[in-house]
Amino acid sequence: MNFPAHFLWGAATSAYQIEGAPLADGAGPSIWHAFAHTPGRIRHGDTGDRACLHYERHATDLELMAALGLQAYRFSINWGRVLPAGVGAINPRGLDFYRRLVDGLLARGIVPMITLYHWDLPLALHERGGWLHPDSPAWFADYAAVLFRALDDRVPLWVTLNEPWVSTVLGYLEGIHAPGQRDPSAATRVGHHLLLAHAAAVGAYRALGRHAIGIALNLEPQHPASDSAADRAAAARRDVFVNRWFLEPLICGRYPPSLPALFGAAWPALAPDAVAGLRGCYDFLGVNYYTRARVRAAAGYPAAALRLPAGGTTTQMGWEIYPAGLTEILLWLTNEYGPLPLYVTENGAAFADPAPVNGLVADPRRIAYLRDHLAALHTALQQGAAVHGYFVWSLLDNFEWAEGYTPRFGLFQIDPASGARIPKASAYWYRDFIHALRTGFRPAAVETWPAFSGNHSE
Ligand code: FCB
Repeated sequence: MNFPAHFLWGAATSAYQIEGAPLADGAGPSIWHAFAHTPGRIRHGDTGDRACLHYERHATDLELMAALGLQAYRFSINWGRVLPAGVGAINPRGLDFYRRLVDGLLARGIVPMITLYHWDLPLALHERGGWLHPDSPAWFADYAAVLFRALDDRVPLWVTLNEPWVSTVLGYLEGIHAPGQRDPSAATRVGHHLLLAHAAAVGAYRALGRHAIGIALNLEPQHPASDSAADRAAAARRDVFVNRWFLEPLICGRYPPSLPALFGAAWPALAPDAVAGLRGCYDFLGVNYYTRARVRAAAGYPAAALRLPAGGTTTQMGWEIYPAGLTEILLWLTNEYGPLPLYVTENGAAFADPAPVNGLVADPRRIAYLRDHLAALHTALQQGAAVHGYFVWSLLDNFEWAEGYTPRFGLFQIDPASGARIPKASAYWYRDFIHALRTGFRPAAVETWPAFSGNHSE
């Protein structure tokens, strides 16, 4: 496979999922901290209190990234570390943590990609109304400006929001993510404010920043479960609900015309030009791709469409392994909306990995997943998708939201007692893949690799 010379190979994480120490050094709590501490919300009662201990061990993690040969690292900022009340006074110790992280990346030749919001809204802002508050876009833009001023001289790639659809739907419609509400009219207003927040932050970036800013969207091909007209119509509705809701305001400056009808009375009264200013409000789009959906017509809110349980081979999340969907979604974006600068900002798979043997975790299914998705990515590039980089989700096994620590997405396992990072075979595989592209080097078959020596910097 040939990839463009400038193509960035990376891995991704997010703050609440890996950092631990959520209240250290003056940080304000987030909605995820509060939610995880609410009994019954998270599988096994897990919380992000320790997570991967990354806040303490980021120097180790920088060494892991260097050993992998990563060219880029996507991570997120915990807003409440920097602004404990969400607005107002800056907490210098919180900001310094991210400054050290960025400097550590640059010292190792790794390009930082910062996500400003990966779901951990400061609790203080939530108590004032959170994303339902009409001032929330301005709060977000002010916070973003603090980061742009502090770090844009060193950070070339910025992502405003991670998956606003998930914040909206899982947080406010289905109630399985923080803040755990089930209120359709709240959800549609939150979605609208998130879009305005993105635009406000991009506006601040145009004044303060010199590099590139975008957004990361979860996109998923919606395939009808049968050829029937009813199932095809259901898949089209679900495509509007899942994919186009947050894409079309950004690309076309309007909501999909059929979207309000999916929500009926829960759709807010908006001026016709309510999102006109969002058109073209990005330098790139980030695509988070995991799987496809197979859809059947069914009575049910909001899209009258039922996502079927996955058939075929699935991951630990119950998600079908469907590499062709990555080619499909990248080419769909390119052909439907014109050539767009894209990054694959997340792609990866959870499996119940075994315990390590001689310091190495055997994870052949993750290697196969990555290999097949990279081939699918390559096909999309050959057919015209303008993709500039790829980020494996995730560097480390981490706190997978409502599923706690059960799903394992990492290239490294975390020893639960000591917190030590233990490489999986996929970490070596990805290292050798990156290396091979640069040098023409061909790695040995996984089975022939020597057992891991226990030296974490390898
Ligand atoms: C995405 C999230 C990320 C992780 C993966 C598995 O939706 O952005 O934090 O949970 O899914």
